[in-house]
Parts: sequence; C-alpha cells; structure tokens
Amino acid sequence: MEPVSVKAILQSPHGVLFVKNPRGEWELPGGRPEAGEGLEAALAREVEEECGLTITSACYLDSQSCEIIPGRRVLLVFFRCEYTGHAMRLSEEHTDYRWVDLAGEQPTRLPDFYWQACSAAMNRTLAIPASPMQTLDYPLPTGECDRRRLQLMAAIYDPATTEFLLRHLPSEGRILEIGCGHGQIARWMAERSPKAKVLGLDSSPAQIAVAKASEGSANLDFRVGDITRWAEEHRFDLIVCRFVLLHLQERAAVLQSLLVLLGSTGTLVIEEPSLSSLFCVPRVPAFEQANAAILAYGRLHGLDYDCAAALWEMLAGLKVEIQEARFSQPTVWSEEHKQVVRLSFQAFSSRLVEAGVLEPAQVAQIVASLVRDYESPAVISSGLRTLQIAVTPRSGRS
Ligand SMILES: C[S@@+](CC[C@H](N)C(=O)[O-])C[C@H]1O[C@@H](n2cnc3c(N)ncnc32)[C@H](O)[C@@H]1O
Repeated sequence: MEPVSVKAILQSPHGVLFVKNPRGEWELPGGRPEAGEGLEAALAREVEEECGLTITSACYLDSQSCEIIPGRRVLLVFFRCEYTGHAMRLSEEHTDYRWVDLAGEQPTRLPDFYWQACSAAMNRTLAIPASPMQTLDYPLPTGECDRRRLQLMAAIYDPATTEFLLRHLPSEGRILEIGCGHGQIARWMAERSPKAKVLGLDSSPAQIAVAKASEGSANLDFRVGDITRWAEEHRFDLIVCRFVLLHLQERAAVLQSLLVLLGSTGTLVIEEPSLSSLFCVPRVPAFEQANAAILAYGRLHGLDYDCAAALWEMLAGLKVEIQEARFSQPTVWSEEHKQVVRLSFQAFSSRLVEAGVLEPAQVAQIVASLVRDYESPAVISSGLRTLQIAVTPRSGRS
C-alpha cells in the first residue's frame, strides 16, 4: 500500500503555485493526512502550514501513483483549490516558491509527473461540465452478500419511510421504485395498494435476483435497469426513490428524468440522507472515523454523500410543488441494529483502501473498535437523518 499525499493546485493570474523542497525540486503544496484526518482537512492544514494561505474550497481532480524519489512511490491526490490570503508565508519545509505558468516552459527541477498531472488535471476540469450524464459504479456489494445489511437498514428506516409513503400511495395506477435493492418497499406498496401495479427497478442484477426470490403479490414486478439510462414510454402515478440519489453524480438530471416519467398528476417521493448527521453517545472515535472515511471516499469521486440539503436546493430549481417535506432520524440503540454501521463500513472498506482513504490496518482497527466500543450496550446512537420529500409537477394538482 503506497502512502497518500494530498496536493493543492492553487492558481493566481501568474500561474500555479509550486514550492521548493530541500532537495531543490519544485512540488505542489500539500502532504500526508494524519491519522483520522480527512483528505480536505489535511489539504487545508498543509497549505496553511506551508504557505500561510487559507483554503476556502477544494475540488477533487485526479490521483496518480508517482515515484517521488527513486524507489519510493506515493499516491498523489490532486485538488483544485480556492483560497484566501495573498501574502505567502513559507514554512521551514520549503526554501522558495514560484507561480508557474502551465502554458509556458516547464521549469528545471520540476518533476515531469507534477507537470503532466497539473496539465492533465487542468484540462480535465475544463472538460467536466461538458461530459454527458454518467454514473459511478455502485460502491457496495449487492445480492445475497448484502442481505443482512439491507435487512438491518430496513428494520431501522422502513417504519418512518412507510409512514410517510402511506400519505402519497395511490390506490391504483402505476408505481415505480428506483434503486429498489431487495425490494421490501416495493413489496409493501404492492400489498398496501393491491389494485396498483408496482415495478421495482435496480441496476444490479444481483439485487433483482434477491428481490424476485422473495414471495410477492401478482401486482408486483422487478426489473434490472439503470435509472440514468432507462427509457419507458408509460407514465407513473408514484415514483419512489430512497437512498439512491446519494450514489449518483448527475442528481439534477436524474430528478428531471423522473419528473418526465411522472404523469401530470403523479407524485415523486424521495428520501435521501445527510451522512454527517450521525452521532453516538458516548462518543466513539471509530464511529466518527468510519463515517468520515466514507464521506471522504465520496468526495474523492465528486460525490457529496451529505446530499439532503443539495437535493432540497435542486428541487427548488425544478418545476415542482412540494406536497410534504420532513426530516426523520431514527434512534439506533439495540446491539443488533448497531451492527449496520460495521457492516456498511466493511462493505465499503475495499473501496476505501483502493482509493487510499484508509490503510488496511486502520480498517481493522476501526472494525475492532466498532464491535468492542460502539456495539456495546452502553452506547446509544442516531441513525442517518433523512430528508423525505413528496413533490408533484407544478402543472399538476395544487
Ligand atoms: C443503498 S441501496 C438502497 C436500496 C433501497 N432503495 C432501500 O432503501 O432499501 C441503493 C440501491 O440503488 C441501486 N442503484 C444504484 N445506482 C443505480 C442506478 N443508476 N439505477 C438504478 N439503481 C441503482 C443499487 O444497486 C442499490 O440496490
């Protein structure tokens, strides 16, 4: 496992900021995250320490394994940063600084990997707005091996979800659940509205296989389909989407396509979480580290898993009427339900290690502490705070 170093690309009208290290080479400001520290926090701390500049926003660009000195590779994680404070204050770690114009000559002693990575990263940022709708692959295991975790999620979150849904469930017509997972919400809707036809859609064939294997009523069907590419000529009276949009990069585009799929009087019910809303009493550092690592993984891939507020703002920009909105946050206190945190973290862990967010040893320590400390009867915890929203197209019912 290579060490990780976060690197800031800071621009001024004169170019990109480089600092000179004791080997006499130019490098980007940044450094290694400390134990338990997120990548953005490490970036902000390093830039403040090395240059006296304050990062105000950091956008992940790219990562590359580079041979920093012969025989020593480091995974460099590049962020394009906004900053304040123009008076450079170099630390003792560096002897000089320079704003380098990427359109000009490559300075001597500025390693090729920085030069190429910076140029590629800058080109890539320019290309992002023009790229078509794209999905990151879903980061969690699917199918039978995720059954236990999804069962616990259902036990914790379904009571508030179904209570909210009940007020928006049509007694007949067509109902669609996207990202239906193992299908328990779709199954519940089919039972509650026997005259309606319910379709559960999920991009994972393994999830759909599990959903189909459970008994269901005749008005229930499951199908494999990716909502970012799905075309359907029929319209739906209710579309339900829970814990799915947080995994999608193009949420606004997906929301718009869901509105197209709604009949003029249909309702869209969305429930998505705010990942940073989790807390437990007494505090367990491993619980916070597990959540911080997952949030950092999302940010590395351009996804803010803390998506409830952003969704609310997105909906405000669409032609919809809000029929009902509320926050919901369950209490997770039983030892059994608390296992969902460990199972979710373990399900994510290979991705966290691959992305360099955590070392395997850190994963093992966090898992051990979750079992020993967080799952102990002395701890009470929140579940995720979710935002539940029911909207109708603005031209529909008022
Ligand atoms: C966290 S699970 C939630 C499952 C279910 N909605 C629930 O709340 O229990 C997210 C589900 O969304 C599915 N998914 C992810 N991206 C998708 C996409 N682009 N189209 C359809 N389903 C998707 C995943 O396969 C997974 O089953």
